[in-house]
Order: sequence, then C-alpha cells, then structure tokens
Amino acid sequence: MKVGIIGSGGREHAICSALKRSKKVDKIYCFPGNAGTKLIAENIDIEIDNFNSLKDFIKLNHIDIVIVGPEKPLVNGVVDYLSAHNINVFGPNRISSQLEGSKIFTKKLCKKYNIPTAGFGIFESEKEAANFMNNCKFPIVVKADVLAAGKGVYICDNKQQSMEAIKEIFSGKFGDTKVVLIEEFLKGEEMSFFIISDGENFKKFGTAQDHKRVFEGDKGKNTGGMGAYSPSRLENNDLDYKILNKIINPTLKGLKELGTDFVGFLYAGLMIVENEPYLIEYNVRMGDPECQTILPKLKTDFIEIIEACLNKNLGSIEIDWYNDKCLCVVLCSKGYPDKFENNVEIRNLNKLDLNTNEFIYHAGTKSINGKVFSNGGRVMNFSVRSKEFKNSRERALELINKVNWENGFFRKDIGYKVID
Ligand code: AMP
Ligand code: GLY
Repeated sequence: MKVGIIGSGGREHAICSALKRSKKVDKIYCFPGNAGTKLIAENIDIEIDNFNSLKDFIKLNHIDIVIVGPEKPLVNGVVDYLSAHNINVFGPNRISSQLEGSKIFTKKLCKKYNIPTAGFGIFESEKEAANFMNNCKFPIVVKADVLAAGKGVYICDNKQQSMEAIKEIFSGKFGDTKVVLIEEFLKGEEMSFFIISDGENFKKFGTAQDHKRVFEGDKGKNTGGMGAYSPSRLENNDLDYKILNKIINPTLKGLKELGTDFVGFLYAGLMIVENEPYLIEYNVRMGDPECQTILPKLKTDFIEIIEACLNKNLGSIEIDWYNDKCLCVVLCSKGYPDKFENNVEIRNLNKLDLNTNEFIYHAGTKSINGKVFSNGGRVMNFSVRSKEFKNSRERALELINKVNWENGFFRKDIGYKVID
C-alpha cells in the first residue's frame, strides 16, 4: 500500500515511523517532509496549502491513503477537497475542524451541550470589553479567535494588561479578527486527552502532558511545545468516564446535529480542577510533541487503525499499547520562540545508536547533500519509551548531548512533576 502524509514536523516524522513498522505499507510519501522523513519516505516538495498540486500528485502516483498532520490544511478544508476528488484521506472535514479553527464555534457548542469549560464572553469592540472589565474578577484570559498556535492567548492580572492585549488583537497582530474572547481563568493542571474517531465510533488514543513554556520550571514565553510525556499523571478511570461523558460524547453529538461527523484524531486540551475536567480548547489532530510520546507506545499496526476508520469500522479493532511510559525532549534553535538562525549544520546524528524503544524524530530540519541542517525553531525530538519516566528522560538527554550542535538548546526538566 502507498501512504501519503501531509506535514513536515516531529508529529509527521513519528507518523512516518509508525507506518514504516507496518508490513502492509510499501511506500510512504511526505509533503513536504524533513531530513528525518527523507530517510524512510520520499519527500515531495509540495506545500501543504497547495491542494491542487497535492491532489494531482496523489492521483498520478495512485496513493491509497493520505493522512493529514497539521491543523492549517484541515481548517482550510483539505479533506473536503481531496475527498471530492475520490482520494481516501484521513482527517476531519472543514466544518468539524472549526473545533480548532474557531474558539467561538467551540464555546457556543459547549454552551449548547452543557460541556464544562471556562465561563466566557465575546466582545466586538474595545469599549464593550472595557465595560465588562469594570466588574470582573482577575486574572482573566483574553484570546484572539484565530489559529495562532497558542500565541493569541493572554493571561491578564488587571484591567490595564487586559486592555493592552485587546488592543493588540484588534490591531490585527494575529490576523484579521472582529471579536475577542474573554474567559474566566481556570486554576488546575492541564492534560491532553486524545481520541481517534471513524465518524460512528471512537476509541481513546492516550493522554499526555506537554510543556509549552520555553524555560525550565515552566517559565517564559509559550512555544509549540518543549517536550512531553505520556501518560498524564492525572489519568484515572473516574476522570476518563467524566471526560468521555461530559466532553467528548456531547461534542460528537453536537457535530452530528450540525449534519456532519468527526473522522480523525481529536485532541481535547483540558484543565483538571479537583478531578473535574474543563475543556480549554480542541485541536483536530494529534498534538506535537504529544504524538511523539504516544505513537512509540502503539503496538497495533497504525495503518490498520487508519484503514478501519476510513471504512467506518473502528469498532472491529483492538488497539494495543505497550504498558510503558514515554518521554520526549525537544531540541530547539537558540532564540526560539523569538528570532533564531536557520541553516546551521547538525553533526554526529549518524553516530547515535538507537535501541528499538528510542526514537529521534526530526522537525525543523532539511537535508543537503547528505548533511542535516536546521530549518525551524523546534528542530528535533528525542523520545524514549521505558518503564520509568526517569529512565526515559536520562536516556533522551544522553542522546541529545551526543549531538554536536552549537546552535541548540533544550529543557532538562521535562516531566519534572512525575520525576523530581
Ligand atoms: P489555548 O490556545 O486556548 O490552548 O491556550 C493556550 C494556553 O493558555 C493553555 O494551554 C493554557 O495553559 C492557557 N489557558 C487558556 N485558557 C485558559 C483558561 N481559561 N484558564 C487558565 N489557563 C488557560
Ligand atoms: N502541543 C500542543 C499542540 O500540539 O497544540
């Protein structure tokens, strides 16, 4: 079977690597991929928003199944577009992808179906928002209703900070937007909860905890993710039951009542407050770097799960997992998430000897004449599966330290809540 993957991050390399383990998969294409995917797939230089060229290539090369990694093409309707050309594509359609594409869409769904989430208001002008703030309790959370990779979110301790945030949003810092969302601040611990769905049935696809802040101790600016571990320390059966019944099931029912369904990975970003789940956000894809901690634990053939979803037959499949822990440390370019340099060579990668429970997933890398160069803020992921988070982290750090890269930095404290 031929499989295509849209995307070029660590998540997509992890997906390629899971497919590579399948006996059913003969050939993998990656659009556009990175220096890591190039070792196991054929990288095709087509950008992820060029739906027409993607379609032409997929048709010409008779690719059997296409898997979409990142949110942007999903929100822009790549699944609708490719499906309309009779391509077998795994991911949610444009309407379902609004769960990630529009925070307001999700908030309205929460309200209608009584899904626990932070209290909120939607404001169309600075003045309206300012009036609201005369009587509200701080801190509050101010959000732009756009896809901004976590960056359009401000946690504000007073009215002045909030007004600055609102000004930035209305001035178009995150793109054109006519509204801001103001939310109650929830104090608890975050957890990423994943399901995979075929539109009729769904199964849990693990939990994880990522570290979004750039510096150790969860300090500094938000990033795409500096590392993660799976499972979350908060996971328990009682909480699972609440998440499924109070959040996931009503959401899927809500989409059905809108005349659509959800096929793909759904990632609920939750705040757990005293063992009660609150929805902070939905993402309509696997998390990155969470995916790099979940797929290494998967025993079942990944493509069989995807095929079952596309055949609306997920109920017939058992998903088996290693009963292990997995932890991932992200190696970044110095300066990230602000300015950083690209095109710096990364040496010694071929000197690393990996065991079968150890994975290096590339993200922002490119390969030129057999050499690997940096090509982004988050550059590589070091994931290790083992019985203990502590062992996984030690080995991940040992591997990173063997890489000879003067322009890199990473957090040494990933998983501190479950280790130290
Ligand atoms: P979002 O892009 O909505 O996931 O927000 C990014 C991050 O901001 C989340 O991962 C949380 O750490 C934080 N956050 C967002 N909304 C809230 C909230 N209502 N209460 C507390 N923290 C929040
Ligand atoms: N790790 C956060 C995300 O994938 O959105």
